[in-house]
Amino acid sequence: MALIKKFRIKSFKSDENIVEIKNTSVFYNKRQILNNLNLNIKKQEILGMLGPNGVGKSTIFNLITGLKDPNYGKIFIEGFDVTNLPINERFLKFKLGFVPQYGGLIHDLTLLDNLRLVSEIHIPEKELREQKINKLISQFEFETLLNVKAKHLSGGQKKKLVIAMALINDPKILLLDEPFAALDILTIRMLQEIIINLQSTEEISVVVCDHQARDLLNCVDRAVILSNGQIIASGSPKEVISDKAAKSQYFGDEFNIN
Ligand SMILES: Nc1ncnc2c1ncn2[C@@H]1O[C@H](COP(=O)(O)OP(=O)(O)O)[C@@H](O)[C@H]1O
Ligand SMILES: [Mg+2]
Repeated sequence: MALIKKFRIKSFKSDENIVEIKNTSVFYNKRQILNNLNLNIKKQEILGMLGPNGVGKSTIFNLITGLKDPNYGKIFIEGFDVTNLPINERFLKFKLGFVPQYGGLIHDLTLLDNLRLVSEIHIPEKELREQKINKLISQFEFETLLNVKAKHLSGGQKKKLVIAMALINDPKILLLDEPFAALDILTIRMLQEIIINLQSTEEISVVVCDHQARDLLNCVDRAVILSNGQIIASGSPKEVISDKAAKSQYFGDEFNIN
């Protein structure tokens, strides 16, 4: 794959937080989803969030983007309290990139027009816009797909396109909601490589979530395991898979990576 060259940052060093979720509880109607949750995202790390379906992974993304207000607690981005900041202001001020689990593109537009559409929102100058689009086209190897309508792209090509669209405003934080779902193993490898390369070439923090562990643990610096509204384990992939609580409540006894 002639994708961006792979320069994995071997051991991740920064201890500075870019996002802090503090003592946060979320309820839907009277059902508690998150229970006094504390989660920090460090600058330039790839953080994996793991947990069963319905545990609250997408809800955490919604708290960061502002799609959902917490019932209790506060959200900080780069040290600023953004708990009451509307979505559009958060995206502009802090350069967030969000790849939802489903959708995120316009099916009847071509791949190129999807990129153009988003770039026109974010980049006023035509020349800079073209430069950015051309960079993404070569970075993601879209050259032969430019005039294909989004609805005719494969699952993996669609996911790549939505990630590319999320990168148009040069985000500092990229949130990927279950990007590997329903994709074949080669496509998953390709996406893992894209994620790892982004960390080294674009200097951004990436948060990726999944309900299955294997694909996610292969490409993150640190993982947190969610269960019953709280983080029950946090650490490197090796650390979390040998964690007792994570084993009994999420992985089971047989789980291993390799
Ligand atoms: N808008 C909503 N109204 C009511 N319940 C919701 C809403 N959104 C999510 N939930 C519930 O909150 C819980 C967490 O959802 P979600 O964050 O989507 O989980 P995950 O992404 O981990 O699968 C689930 O039980 C879900 O049913
Ligand atoms: Mg979800």
